[in-house]
Amino acid sequence: MMASDVLKQKVAEAAYTSLERFIQPNWVLGIGTGSTVNCFIDCLARSNPPFACAVSSSLQTSDRLETLNINIADINDVSEVMVYIDGADEVDPSFALIKGGGGALTREKIVASMARKFVCIVDESKMVDCLGEFSVPVEVLPFAHQPVATKLGKLGGNPKLRAGLTDNGNCILDVGGLKIDDPEYWEQTINDIPGVVTTGIFSLHRPQEIFIAKVDGSVDHRVGH
Ligand code: 5RP
Repeated sequence: MMASDVLKQKVAEAAYTSLERFIQPNWVLGIGTGSTVNCFIDCLARSNPPFACAVSSSLQTSDRLETLNINIADINDVSEVMVYIDGADEVDPSFALIKGGGGALTREKIVASMARKFVCIVDESKMVDCLGEFSVPVEVLPFAHQPVATKLGKLGGNPKLRAGLTDNGNCILDVGGLKIDDPEYWEQTINDIPGVVTTGIFSLHRPQEIFIAKVDGSVDHRVGH
């Protein structure tokens, strides 16, 4: 059985190798957040291909990119992201995701929404038949965390307030107990609660490609419809 950090490296390398030959000097790359994406950033820094700049989904990712001398653009100065690379906490068979375990869900969703192509990199422990075993992170305004929690409770969820604040100065409610059998319905329903900034369900902005590292050492590459 391979250790999980080895799987993260393998999947990051496989995704990088598949992307490398297409990268162009005018490309803006979107970079997600988390330990799997950190491995991808390391591949990028090692190979140093010519591309215009990166758009980052978190302060943590920006720090790593800066340390490795990768040029970062302000998202407000960029009209389109060519490819967005990010990890996930859960992936269902239709490529709907739960994200936000690292707290960066809002910026991640914004960058994903600007990308021509979203490539997700995970190990096979993240693959599920139905989303919801992993508590759904929901970013909320600090002003309204209790009313939002009450509404999430009425929808059948069990929200817990996460310690700390996001890069945007907001709170996160981690909502257990939801069976996300219709990801679009749940994403829309949670987004519609006043006080919610973003839900970590990514069904409206699903990846087009997923790389999955398996414990036998192979990496699956799946392309969506
Ligand atoms: C951060 C995320 C991450 O992509 C997700 O938590 C997976 O992280 P890791 O690659 O460390 O398992 O959504 O907000």
